[in-house]
Amino acid sequence: MKTLPRIVVLGTGGTIASTASDATTLSDYAVTQSVSALLGEDSGIERLMRVEYRQPLNVDSREITNSMLLALAAEVEAQLADPDIDGAVITHGTDTLEETAYFLSLTLQSSKPVVIVGAMRPSSAISADGRLNLYNALVLAASPKARGLGVLVTLNDQFFAARFVSKFHTTRVDAFGAPDQGSLGSVRDGQVHLYQVPVGLHPDAPTFSLAGLARLPDVDIVYDHQSAGLHHYRASIDAQVAGIVVAACGNGSLSPNAQAGLAQAVKAGIACVRSSRVPTGAITHSRFDEAGGLVAAGAHNPQKARILLMLALTVTRERDALQRYFDGC
Ligand code: SIN
Repeated sequence: MKTLPRIVVLGTGGTIASTASDATTLSDYAVTQSVSALLGEDSGIERLMRVEYRQPLNVDSREITNSMLLALAAEVEAQLADPDIDGAVITHGTDTLEETAYFLSLTLQSSKPVVIVGAMRPSSAISADGRLNLYNALVLAASPKARGLGVLVTLNDQFFAARFVSKFHTTRVDAFGAPDQGSLGSVRDGQVHLYQVPVGLHPDAPTFSLAGLARLPDVDIVYDHQSAGLHHYRASIDAQVAGIVVAACGNGSLSPNAQAGLAQAVKAGIACVRSSRVPTGAITHSRFDEAGGLVAAGAHNPQKARILLMLALTVTRERDALQRYFDGC
């Protein structure tokens, strides 16, 4: 007799694990629930798979630090190394979910499905979305169709590649999307519908080994704007960060003080990446990048550029080599 798939769920907190004072309070709530309580009793999941729960964290995702990311990656990797485990689901706050998803997609070595899931409404809400999102995530993680797709993110019945997904709405349940690349598929009535497989993942993915890595290099994000000051860059230089990602204007264009600040940062040996405030599209190479020691982020938004830069800096500080990492897609 075929045994049921075995899926491990790792809880990290977020709205999916939160409750508010009453059913119609949708935006003022706190993390209160343990991961094992999130699906509830009546889903029938036990007929489809064996599920076990771990609770590495239980926090709002804005509280997640680099060292928590490293510990989470190690725990997921250890779970997936168990030959009896078929896949993993990670419950996570939506605010920084795409950062964790991209980090794991660049570092996990296993081809077993890893699905990250959150919710936009606390579990106490009328029409809370967390239970169905979690159910869908379990179905996806147990599906052979999800193998080899890299880290996936699911909310609101759709799933996306970690590389491309972003949060685009502050409150609605359809907050996540990948406007340029689209969703990879959907989960409906317990069935996975796969529409496309992600091409354009990093060419060497999974690229970065975390073995022996005690901490990640510090990388700041600086937001550019009209009348921007130089002091943000000075602060990063004084803090001796390893990298700066600038959320530049348009196609990575820089205000005068951003140009000056980045020039000073490059001179101080800091790796500097031009990303954009614009949510879609890619930053194209500029003829000034090479001479100025700058790297163009391609289609990485600032928060994903920060993740990639931290990892790339564990391998190289050389500008052209860093640029090649960002040229991956
Ligand atoms: C969080 O990111 O932890 C809070 C917001 C959410 O999960 O939607």
